[in-house]
Amino acid sequence: MSTAPTLSERADELEHRQMEELGERIVGKSLLYHLADGERTLGERAFGGLMLMGEDPRLPPLPEKPTLMDFFRCRFAVAPQAHLLQSANLAQKNGLSDKMVLACLLHDIAVAGFIRTDHGYWGAQLVEPYVDEEVSWAIRAHQALRFFPDESVGYAYPENYRMLFGEDYRPEPYVVAAYEEARRHKWYMSARIICVNDLYSFDPNVHVELEQFEDVIGREFRQPPEGLGNDNTPASHMWRTLRWPCNAL
Ligand SMILES: [Fe+2]
Ligand SMILES: [Fe+2]
Repeated sequence: MSTAPTLSERADELEHRQMEELGERIVGKSLLYHLADGERTLGERAFGGLMLMGEDPRLPPLPEKPTLMDFFRCRFAVAPQAHLLQSANLAQKNGLSDKMVLACLLHDIAVAGFIRTDHGYWGAQLVEPYVDEEVSWAIRAHQALRFFPDESVGYAYPENYRMLFGEDYRPEPYVVAAYEEARRHKWYMSARIICVNDLYSFDPNVHVELEQFEDVIGREFRQPPEGLGNDNTPASHMWRTLRWPCNAL
């Protein structure tokens, strides 16, 4: 009598199938992946043989014309994505505008979906061509503002930053300068609102679905009809990189 495969057997089978699909193709990893492991190299098989170019069978396939929601579902890491959803949920509960709900939904898009270092800058750049200028400005600025309290809105230096970075951590001078500049900016409060709605968001008991924000995204995110990455904006290459992260060139 045959029994149904267990979950882990099915996972093994899937992995095996994916390795077969990859064939003899060599996965070209960028310097950044190696630097993250403390190594200044492109790996032993940086070039040579058949290199992987295009779809990576190990990753969930994206549709031909991928949308922001598709990238959420097929690329962004799950846990930080939940943080974004919780943050946007809180913003919605607080009665914020669609624009600010979107800003909260996307504020850590770089952490969830691209590069953590300087996440405010990368995140802003990813979405800049598709959102209101105020949204991308606020996403960029929130990175610096997170380190500085503002009692007028009840925002204190985050307790978890003490745990994550140590008691004696001090932001780099460029972060201090960015904070001071943002403080004087007409959209200061928009970036600050992101910080305020960032706090509660780590609650593991709150579960929010992406679909809750489908309408907000529809109204506030200018989805290119040809698909993110297939368009021709200053950010298209970043979406393509996310789609094909291991292309050799
Ligand atoms: Fe952030
Ligand atoms: Fe955050």
